This record gives sequence, structure tokens and C-alpha cells, in this order.
Amino acid sequence: MNVTSCNAKVLSQSTLAPDIRKLVVAWPDASRPPHAGQFFMLRAWAMDEKPVLSRPISVNDFDPDTGALTFLYQVKGEGTAKLAALKPGDTMTVTGPCGNGFDAAALASLGRIAVVGGGIGTAPLLLLCKSLCAAGCKPDLFVGFRDQPYNLEAFQPYCGKIQLSTDTGAVGHHGLVTDLLRPQEYAVVLACGPGVMMRGVYRLCAEQGTPCLVSMENKMACGLGACLGCTCHTKVGPKTVCKDGPVFKAEEVFDL
Ligand code: FES
Repeated sequence: MNVTSCNAKVLSQSTLAPDIRKLVVAWPDASRPPHAGQFFMLRAWAMDEKPVLSRPISVNDFDPDTGALTFLYQVKGEGTAKLAALKPGDTMTVTGPCGNGFDAAALASLGRIAVVGGGIGTAPLLLLCKSLCAAGCKPDLFVGFRDQPYNLEAFQPYCGKIQLSTDTGAVGHHGLVTDLLRPQEYAVVLACGPGVMMRGVYRLCAEQGTPCLVSMENKMACGLGACLGCTCHTKVGPKTVCKDGPVFKAEEVFDL
């Protein structure tokens, strides 16, 4: 796998919700621009410091003109707490881009596209929507959050309709994002979020015969396909989420 590992400078860090941070770093390798759905291994601490493992974080956005590489992440452990302590001007180790993302150009040629996200799983969908839009297809966006949504305004230039649900009913539809989705209106559905949400999206798609791709998450050690620590079982045999994925055909990874 062709990846770059380097010290990247932090350009900014901001808070989007109580436990959600937006981190922008300067990606110095113009020969390896990240694609939608790919991720980087992030490390803001020395190799001999804990936690042992770097953190896999998906690409939220990338500006090829400036090299600004944006991540959205949830602060939920020692590693992400150390990422959250980074200030502009600090440096961190960034390794990537890792994994197989979405082929936006091929997908955009299929017809209408629905992009479905849940919670922090919406993070990689911004670059996906941007890439689809640049390839000539403005997708419709369906997103679900527990309570208050974040970063939705960033999607507006790149999407057709945007439909929102919340578990609490604070904003948008009170219920599941899958209540809003009608797969029969689309050539393909692309999803990223909690497993239960992606399985629900897949089942709706399967009922209508609509193709569905999902971006999977798993615990990762190397992020490069070397340790097999992120292997998942698929209908076509074991596959690594980090190298073979994280994007898979939904029918390979979920049962009906
Ligand atoms: Fe090592 Fe995927 S994390 S093979």
C-alpha cells in the first residue's frame, strides 16, 4: 500500500459539539491526495508513550490547493483526548491515505445517489458529497443524530435535499434516519454510521433492489493490512477493513 508517514503541522482545532472536534493539518505530500472514504492513522504522542496504537480517523475534507486536511473525531479515550489537546503550530504523526474509499467518478455516472450517515459517521461523507458533486452528481443527504446535529451547513453547497432525523426529536424527524429513506428513488445508496443503521439501510435497499455501499469501522493496529487485527468476515471470505475496505458492498458484510 502506498502511504506517506510524516510530521504534519496543526493548522487549527475547534469544537463542533461537546465531544466532537474538528482538526485541520497541513498535508505535505501533494502526490498522494486522499480520496473520499479513506482514512489516516493519527498520533500526537511518542512511539514509546501510551496508548500504543495510533488512531484511525477518516478524512472529512481535503483542499488540494492548500493541502489542508480536515478530520472530525469524537473524544472518547486516551488517544483522542491527546489529539484534542493539540494546538495550532504543534506537529503530529500522520500516516496515509489508507484504505479503499469510494470511487466518486464511477458512482456519479450511475444516476441519483443517496448518501446516508449517522452521528460521527457523517464525518467522511462531506468529502464524498463534494467529490460526487464535482463529478456531476449532487447527492441527496440523509443524516441522523442523537440530539443536536453538527457540521450540516458544510454539506449544503454539495447536496440536493438534506433530510435530518434525531433520536430525541430535538431537530428534524423524531426517529430513525431510515424512516426517511426511499431507496427506490436512487441508483445507489452510500452509507456510513453505526452498524445497526447501516444494516437497516442495507435491508431497505435490498427490498428495492438498490445497490448499497457501506463504510465500515473496526479496531485497527497497523492500518496498512499487515497485522490482520481488523479482519472482518464477509460472504467472500475474511477481509481487512483497513486495506480491503473500509468501503464494502453491503451484501458482503451484512445479512438480511
Ligand atoms: Fe492491521 Fe488492518 S489494522 S491489518
